[in-house]
Amino acid sequence: MAKLLSGKEVSERIKEELRGDVSELKKQGIFPGLAVIIVGDDPASRVYVNNKKKACEQLGIYSEEYALSGDTKEDELIRLIENLNKDEAISAILVQLPLPKHIDEKRIIEAINPKKDVDAFHPVNVGRIMTGGYDFVPCTPAGIMELIKESGISPNGKECVVVGRSNIVGKPMAMLLLHENGTVTICHSRTKNLAEKTKNADILVVAVGKPKFVTADMVKEGAVVIDVGINRTEDKKLVGDVDFEGVKDVASAITPVPGGVGPMTIAMLMKNTVKAAAINKTKSK
Ligand code: GUN
Repeated sequence: MAKLLSGKEVSERIKEELRGDVSELKKQGIFPGLAVIIVGDDPASRVYVNNKKKACEQLGIYSEEYALSGDTKEDELIRLIENLNKDEAISAILVQLPLPKHIDEKRIIEAINPKKDVDAFHPVNVGRIMTGGYDFVPCTPAGIMELIKESGISPNGKECVVVGRSNIVGKPMAMLLLHENGTVTICHSRTKNLAEKTKNADILVVAVGKPKFVTADMVKEGAVVIDVGINRTEDKKLVGDVDFEGVKDVASAITPVPGGVGPMTIAMLMKNTVKAAAINKTKSK
């Protein structure tokens, strides 16, 4: 049985450290504050936003939520972001994705002040992830790097395979592994002979959104397997993109779903929020 990479445990450790950092900042007159914007009533987004707010409370970070109706106009959302950009008590702005179809996601992301963009979705921050020297690391890939560290296997010189090429996970994930000297392959829905590629991986990151997509026969003996998927089965159970039961006997380390990558994403969001407070010298509300 593979080592279980418990994001739940690692994230608690990281949050404990951050709680200390928040107290230190407050002594210096710097008060971290996160604004979360959610548009519409997507149930999964609601759960994520609630978890983000809960983490802020745990750490003594001020947070405000803007829950806007699904028919909110794009310009109204832009005006809200512009006000939050100017607000000296707000260190960090997060717009929960996906947005309703009538809103241009790209325009919204580009309206956020890059210094408050704790998701690291703004093109300025995306660019810095390509070139190095970045302030904010995108939360899910950053959390995955912590879990890989936990496995005891360094990406240095290893075959790293990322399945999925989204802007939120796949692409930044590949860059972070590359910064750590991994040899990186990005696979996606048009990749031919996928199993051949995944079977080559010492470190395999799967973010495709398809339940139990990666099976034991696609995994190399001793690989570190990171499952980013959160899928709900017909009987309402949460399952990842990896067939955990089969793969756990082949891998040397594996993340569970739930309790793997999910809690790490939130811990990294908190880390970026604390960093944003220090950068912006955020004032008390
Ligand atoms: N939707 C799914 N993942 C994320 C994330 O990391 N940040 C935001 N803002 N929206 C998301």
